[in-house]
Amino acid sequence: MIKKGSTYVVMGLLNTDSIAYATGKLVEEMGGNVIWTAQNERMKKIFFDRGCKDLSVEEKDAMQFKYCDVTIDEEVETLFNETGEIDGVLHSIGYANPKTCLGAEEMYTPASQDVLTGFHISAASLATVAHFAAPKMKNGGSIVTLSFEGSRPFPYYNWMGVNKAALEALVKALARNMGKDYIRVNAVSAGPLTTKAASSIPSFNLLASTWEDISPLPWDTLEDKVEVANACVFLLGEYSKKITGQTLFVDGGANFIGGRLMDYEKPKK
Ligand SMILES: NC(=O)c1ccc[n+]([C@@H]2O[C@H](COP(=O)([O-])OP(=O)(O)OC[C@H]3O[C@@H](n4cnc5c(N)ncnc54)[C@H](O)[C@@H]3O)[C@@H](O)[C@H]2O)c1
Repeated sequence: MIKKGSTYVVMGLLNTDSIAYATGKLVEEMGGNVIWTAQNERMKKIFFDRGCKDLSVEEKDAMQFKYCDVTIDEEVETLFNETGEIDGVLHSIGYANPKTCLGAEEMYTPASQDVLTGFHISAASLATVAHFAAPKMKNGGSIVTLSFEGSRPFPYYNWMGVNKAALEALVKALARNMGKDYIRVNAVSAGPLTTKAASSIPSFNLLASTWEDISPLPWDTLEDKVEVANACVFLLGEYSKKITGQTLFVDGGANFIGGRLMDYEKPKK
């Protein structure tokens, strides 16, 4: 799926639980090169000090690691000035202040700057990344981002749900803009997975447990990260050359179910 020797920038590494990590490892296993990015120098240090205990010294040393805050255009520009030619980018980045933008509270928040920051990081930054990455994809390429159900509001997900809806709309707008340069833009909409970002969603376990009621296939919040990574690699790589502007659900099928599953429809244990 991934061309041997191709190079991908994988953005959004916090620890080895990150979706970015699972995807980047698959790219490497298939013979691709990965340039990893964390948000800033501090996050990079956290990754090496605490976030990757299961990696050997050799594995850590082999990682080509940069940092880049996607809300600072100069940092995104510098990142892509330093990568050389690339074949694609994984944008696996999101943030909304859990105190003001997520949770059981009503949507209104007096902290409107938090709403804007969440939108900038979780949605608009894809356009920044696409803008600075495009000149490095001279022979075309693929940009993939991560969504969570942009079309239906879920409890506790509040402003993040709005950001994901915007992200999925932006995927289509960018795909329209960038097709002329043979650059594809797609999203993978994942079911709930246990990661640091997920742990900051209030009552994440409650949200995740709804998957038992709405997912026709069994969904495992730990094990199924690899299935999400598989789909990201599919969209980044060689087998999806005519797919663009899409949101591909990797959620066990929860997205199309009306109401709850009947007991007789639930996956057999
Ligand atoms: N975990 C889930 O259940 C789930 C489900 C569907 C979609 N997603 C999405 O997948 C993506 C990756 O999340 P994850 O679950 O791997 O969690 P994660 O916490 O490992 O990754 C989120 C990343 O976003 C980065 N980030 C935040 N602000 C940034 C900024 N200003 N600049 C650069 N990086 C920044 C964080 O440093 C972190 O590396 C997010 O967009 C998330 O919304 C997650």
